[in-house]
Amino acid sequence: MTRESWTTRLGFILAAVGSAVGLGNLWRFPWMTAENGGSAFLVVYLGIILLVGVPGLLAEFVIGRRSKRNPAGALYRLSNGSGSWGIVGLLGVFTALVLLSFYSVVGGWILRYVGASVTGAYFGNPGYFDAISFGAEAAAFHVAFLGLTAFIVVGGVRSGIEKATTVMTPLIVVMLAALAVWAISQSGADAGLAFYLDFDADYLQANPISVLQAAAGQALFTLSLGVGTMITYASYLGEDNSLAFDGSVIALLNTGVGVLAGLVVFPLLFALQGGLSETAAGGGPGALFVSVASAFQQVPFGQLLAVGFFGVVLLAALSSSISMLEIPVAYLVDEHDVSRRSATLGLAGLILVTGTVCALNPGLFTTVSGPVVDTLLTAGLAGFLVFAGWVLGGDALAEYGTGSGRIARALGVPWLWSIRTVLPVFLLVTLGLSLGLV
Ligand code: TRP
Repeated sequence: MTRESWTTRLGFILAAVGSAVGLGNLWRFPWMTAENGGSAFLVVYLGIILLVGVPGLLAEFVIGRRSKRNPAGALYRLSNGSGSWGIVGLLGVFTALVLLSFYSVVGGWILRYVGASVTGAYFGNPGYFDAISFGAEAAAFHVAFLGLTAFIVVGGVRSGIEKATTVMTPLIVVMLAALAVWAISQSGADAGLAFYLDFDADYLQANPISVLQAAAGQALFTLSLGVGTMITYASYLGEDNSLAFDGSVIALLNTGVGVLAGLVVFPLLFALQGGLSETAAGGGPGALFVSVASAFQQVPFGQLLAVGFFGVVLLAALSSSISMLEIPVAYLVDEHDVSRRSATLGLAGLILVTGTVCALNPGLFTTVSGPVVDTLLTAGLAGFLVFAGWVLGGDALAEYGTGSGRIARALGVPWLWSIRTVLPVFLLVTLGLSLGLV
C-alpha cells in the first residue's frame, strides 16, 4: 500500500496552520501578553518565534519530509537503526497522548459552551464554569470532543484531515477578524487595547528571566513543536517545495491569529465589563470562559455572537487535536501495520480513559497541562534539533535546500549551526530553569 500524502501544497499549509492555531493562541497568548508587559512581551515573543520557533519548525519539517515517517520511525530509520534515537521519537508519540488527554477535556468545555451559548445557560451565572469544568459531565463532553477528533482522523490524510482543515482554518481567520472589528468598535474598547498592548519595558527589565521563559514556552506550544506533529505532517508531503517559505507562512499566520485573538478578548472585556474580573486577572483555565462569556450577555445579539465566538474556539481546538491524534495513529500505521481505522479507534479508546482521569482530577489536570507538557515539549524539541543538526547534518541541509529559493538557501548554513549549537543550549537552559535546576 502506498503511503498517504496531501493533495496540494496549500492543503499542507492549512493543516499545519490548523494544528498551530488553537487554544494556545486564542486563550493562552492574550493572557500571557497582558501579564508579561504587553507589547514589550510581544517584541520578545516575536523574536523567539523568529529565532527559535521557525528554525525548530524547519528541523521537524526536514526530518519528516526526508523520512516520510512518523517521529519514531523517522528517527530510527534516519539514524540507520539506532534504538536510542528511536526512543527519542517514541517520546514524541507518548507526549502526543499526554497532550491530547488534557486538550480533549478543554475541547469538551468548549463544546459545552457552544451549546450553552445557544440556550443562554451561563448568562447571569458566574459560577457556571466552576460547576461544569470537572466531574462526570466534563468527562462526557471530553468523550464527545474526542469522538469528533477521531471521526476526522479516521477519514485519513486527504479526505479527513486535509478536507476538514481546508474549510476550518480559513473560517477561523475570517470569523476571528470579523469579531475583532466588532469588538474594537465597541465604545470603551480603547482601555482594553491599552491594557493589552501597553509597552511595559520596566516589567521586562525587572523580570527578564520569567518573561523569556514564558515567551519560549508559549512559542513552542503555539507552533506545535517538540512532539513531532510537524514531522508527521511534513512526512505526507509529496512534492518538494520550499520548506522555509511554507514554515514562514505558517509561523506568520499563527502569530497573526494570536494577536487577533487579543484584539477580540480585551476590548470586549473592557468595553462591556469595565475591566478584568477577578478570575480573569489571575489567568487560569477559567479566564476565557468566565469573562468573555459574561461580556456577551450585555450586548444585543449577544447570544449569537457568543455562539460565533465559541464556534471559532471549537474549530481551532479541533484542528489542533486532530494533529495530536495523528502522531500515534501514523506510528501504528507505519510501524506496526495496523489499519488506520483500528489505530484511530484503539487510541481514542485509550485517551477516552486518560482524558476521563484528567476530567475528574483538577489537580492532575493542572500538573499535566502545565509543567509536564512544558518539560516534554522542550526536551522533545531539543532532541529533534540535535538529531537534525548532528545526525542528519549535511543531509538536513540538503533536504532544507530542496525546493527552496535563493534567500532561504543563503540562510541554510546559519540555520544548521543554530540548531546544532545555540538553540539546543537555549532549550536546555529554559528546561533547567523551569525545573529549578539552574
Ligand atoms: N498549537 C496548538 C495550540 O496552540 C496546540 C498543539 C497542537 C500542540 N498540536 C500540538 C502543541 C503539538 C504541542 C504539540 O493550541
